[in-house]
Amino acid sequence: MDNRMTVAVIGCGRIANGAHLPVLQSFDNVRIKYVCDLIPEKAEKAKEAFPKAERAITDHKIALSDPEVGAVFVLTPNYSHYEVTMDALRAGKHVFCEKPVTVNYALSAEMAAEADRLGRILNIGVCNRFHRSVEMLKELNEQGRFGKLYHVYCSFRSFRSIPGLGGAFTTKAQSGGGVLIDWGIHFLDLILYILGDPVIQTATCDSYREMAKDMRSYKYTGMWAEDTADTEHGTNDVDDLITGHIRTDKSSISFNGAWAQNIDKNEMFIDFLGDKAGARLTYGGKFEIYDGQTLQTIRPEYDIPDMYALEDEAFIESVKTGVKNRSNIDRVLNSMLLLDTLYRSAVEKREIVL
Ligand SMILES: NC(=O)c1ccc[n+]([C@@H]2O[C@H](COP(=O)([O-])OP(=O)(O)OC[C@H]3O[C@@H](n4cnc5c(N)ncnc54)[C@H](O)[C@@H]3O)[C@@H](O)[C@H]2O)c1
Repeated sequence: MDNRMTVAVIGCGRIANGAHLPVLQSFDNVRIKYVCDLIPEKAEKAKEAFPKAERAITDHKIALSDPEVGAVFVLTPNYSHYEVTMDALRAGKHVFCEKPVTVNYALSAEMAAEADRLGRILNIGVCNRFHRSVEMLKELNEQGRFGKLYHVYCSFRSFRSIPGLGGAFTTKAQSGGGVLIDWGIHFLDLILYILGDPVIQTATCDSYREMAKDMRSYKYTGMWAEDTADTEHGTNDVDDLITGHIRTDKSSISFNGAWAQNIDKNEMFIDFLGDKAGARLTYGGKFEIYDGQTLQTIRPEYDIPDMYALEDEAFIESVKTGVKNRSNIDRVLNSMLLLDTLYRSAVEKREIVL
């Protein structure tokens, strides 16, 4: 008897090919029945690259109408997460949907309510929650290692990293925003996770779009997602620099993020500032602890397993057991609420009190 979980992968772009398909290909307990992309060549290419993939399709509804499919991976651009996920839930499938949940909080909350109503698991790709450094920092905070953790600062600033200029990434109607929703969500989500899901009290934010006002004269050395760019006829109406301050019932949080800036530095880190000790987490890497008593720097040694493998494994486990885990949509909504509130603050040019 075949006890594998049969899945369909919808969207065969970067995150599918770079993270989830390699992981699903390596899992013995998973069968990949469909790889689906609106662009037929991309679906075919994924099928060729991942021998476990049985069929390449262009319409996700084919996979949704197949009773063998138990779970669906939604790896499409932000704007389509809502539609594809709702279709999948209503077809009775469990869903893993990439981050951000979708383009705003209201639609995200609808997705959560629908998953609950239908009794389906809906996990979001908050992969950093599975990063070993993040798990350790969360444990250390819970154990009181930092004392009173009064402030967290994060920087997600890069010199030249506007993705696919003029395409889906820089078109607000398709992405929901720029550097804040694309990179900031990862940083803010993992801060909220490490702090233990604090209650957000106030949020204030300023956003800027200065570096590619005229898309044709934007200077860069490399552009990721360049295949989606359209600097001649496309749109760029999203933030390329963002800054803000958040008050919670635990720590306050401040941040600066830039997809592009005229400072040739890539600074990606989070500082946790406690009265006994502090820590700096290099994004995607390891962390250092600065002890306030001994004035020593501690560099813990540990392995960093593949966070995408861990999050996919956790999703499959959650589907099997019905137990919601750390990336269930219920536990991610707070991050979407924060994101919406920050964008609202930037538009209304005032602090928002929740
Ligand atoms: N967790 C992470 O670290 C991480 C990293 C990168 C991207 N992402 C997220 O993953 C999502 C996809 O990003 P990407 O960089 O892979 O984008 P991408 O543009 O490379 O790939 C998206 C693919 O989806 C296809 N598509 C669009 N609508 C579809 C539909 N209705 N049915 C089938 N296919 C459809 C597109 O043709 C495209 O090939 C985004 O939401 C992004 O935020 C997450």
